[in-house]
Amino acid sequence: MEMDDSFQQDWQDLIATHPVCRMTRDTSDPPIDAVNIPHVVAMVGLPARGKTFIAMKLARYLNWAGMPTKVFNVGDYRRKAMELFPGHDFFLTGNREGTAIRNRVALDALQDVVEFLASGGQVGVYDAANISQERRKLIHHIIVERLGYKLFFIESICNEPKIIEANIMESKVTNPDYSDMATEDAVSDFLKRIDHYCSRYETIDEENEKTFSFMKIFDAGRRVVVHKQEGHIQSRVAYYLMNIHITPRSIYLTRHGESVFNQMGRIGGDSDLSPNGLEYSKALAKFIKSQNIPNLRVWTSYMKRTIQTASNIDAPQERWKALNEIDAGICEGLTYEEIQEQLPGEFAARDNNKYQYRYPRGESYEDVVYRLESVMMELERQENVLVVGHQAVLRCVLAYFLDKTGEELPYLKVPLHSIIKLTPQAYGCKVELFKIPIDCVDTHRCKPLVTRNDEGKEEYLGPEDVIHQERVEVTAVQGLVKKMCVSPSKDLSSTQEDDEGCVK
Ligand code: ATP
Ligand code: F6P
Repeated sequence: MEMDDSFQQDWQDLIATHPVCRMTRDTSDPPIDAVNIPHVVAMVGLPARGKTFIAMKLARYLNWAGMPTKVFNVGDYRRKAMELFPGHDFFLTGNREGTAIRNRVALDALQDVVEFLASGGQVGVYDAANISQERRKLIHHIIVERLGYKLFFIESICNEPKIIEANIMESKVTNPDYSDMATEDAVSDFLKRIDHYCSRYETIDEENEKTFSFMKIFDAGRRVVVHKQEGHIQSRVAYYLMNIHITPRSIYLTRHGESVFNQMGRIGGDSDLSPNGLEYSKALAKFIKSQNIPNLRVWTSYMKRTIQTASNIDAPQERWKALNEIDAGICEGLTYEEIQEQLPGEFAARDNNKYQYRYPRGESYEDVVYRLESVMMELERQENVLVVGHQAVLRCVLAYFLDKTGEELPYLKVPLHSIIKLTPQAYGCKVELFKIPIDCVDTHRCKPLVTRNDEGKEEYLGPEDVIHQERVEVTAVQGLVKKMCVSPSKDLSSTQEDDEGCVK
């Protein structure tokens, strides 16, 4: 048998036996919701073209926007299937064993994508190279023709040697494949791996593959082609990916300085800054100046306390209504204690599901996320930006960057008189927290605890106790400007002080 024939035979055998190739919609399956048809987003492109970056960023955005999304990276499946990374030869076109393993793990991952969608997922991102027409045809056959889901290919095409080099240095030499290799050897091995892929690469053909829905991103977004985009999910995906960029920059987030209402423990309203808050406004301007941030833009809400806080900063300023604090409706101007006393049902309902709870005649956190979408899109387009916002609004912004769930979001800690600096990196964000040593109250209310009493019944540990715990914590953070660092995977509520510098 010729080499080509034996490879073809392996492939046919795999297709004939792999469970994903036999999956089909059963007539007894519940009908697919026509508006929210589950989607597979399948990446296409050579190695080091930003596929995983795009996949992970997209998933973060879609999850934040309320669409359950998960990334399935075929490289991870390959690493699980093989104990040791054998080097670039593994990817050689003529390596029969390597080809067989790669084909199998690719289908294993696709099967997990399908199972994720069948169990309530909305978008499964299939992060593989998918560089041949044959492979894309098979994916289309399984996902669209047999299962009735939607499929959107996203191809990243980049021929800029500088970008590819930077990508290899940023995310490949640190890849688990190369954990035991010197940087130079890892780069050289990776370049050979790319060469092996180049020999088999077929870009999506706008004629031969014209029935597919796809998007092509050229040179990290310099040009974009969208073809046969179908439905609201694909249009959101395409619009989002048209807005992102990879120019290095930082996003600074701070709440307004302490307000008169903050001092009184009252929520909402549109009060002025307290004397402490005014002091913070001056200190913030000094801090920002000391950072020497090129072309900084400053965004505030329409509320007096954010405008006053930003007033001393020497940079162009823009106001956004969408950055206004959560509208507490009939609870505006009350303290948490007053709400609990006067509206105990509402108070308990909020504690029960803080993300979705909507204040009567006001908003929920979910509503705030929804209205922030245009702000986030613009934030993606911009370079260095300082957002002067509010507790609830900045929790929503942070959840987007730190990939937090709706359950975690309303409890993220965004203390007064602190600046959070976010610097996007290969697949996440570096987070630095700067505390400005000016007195302020703590407005964070922890998730209420449920304890069991002597009879074993659940007992609600009231907000007074929880707020008290928080007050104790904040008094511990005094002194000089403190730089506190957190890793992207950690919750801001579990920040660790790190005087040595920042951890990634
Ligand atoms: P592999 O096939 O080896 O998994 P990949 O295509 O998934 O590679 P990534 O690991 O995502 O490549 O590469 C990450 C780098 O890609 C990041 O440093 C990021 O800045 C960069 N990047 C992001 N988007 C693009 C793009 N559209 N074109 C080129 N590079 C990009
Ligand atoms: O207390 C300050 C404040 O910004 C209020 O205006 C707002 O209602 C509240 O924080 C939001 O925080 P939480 O959702 O924890 O009540």
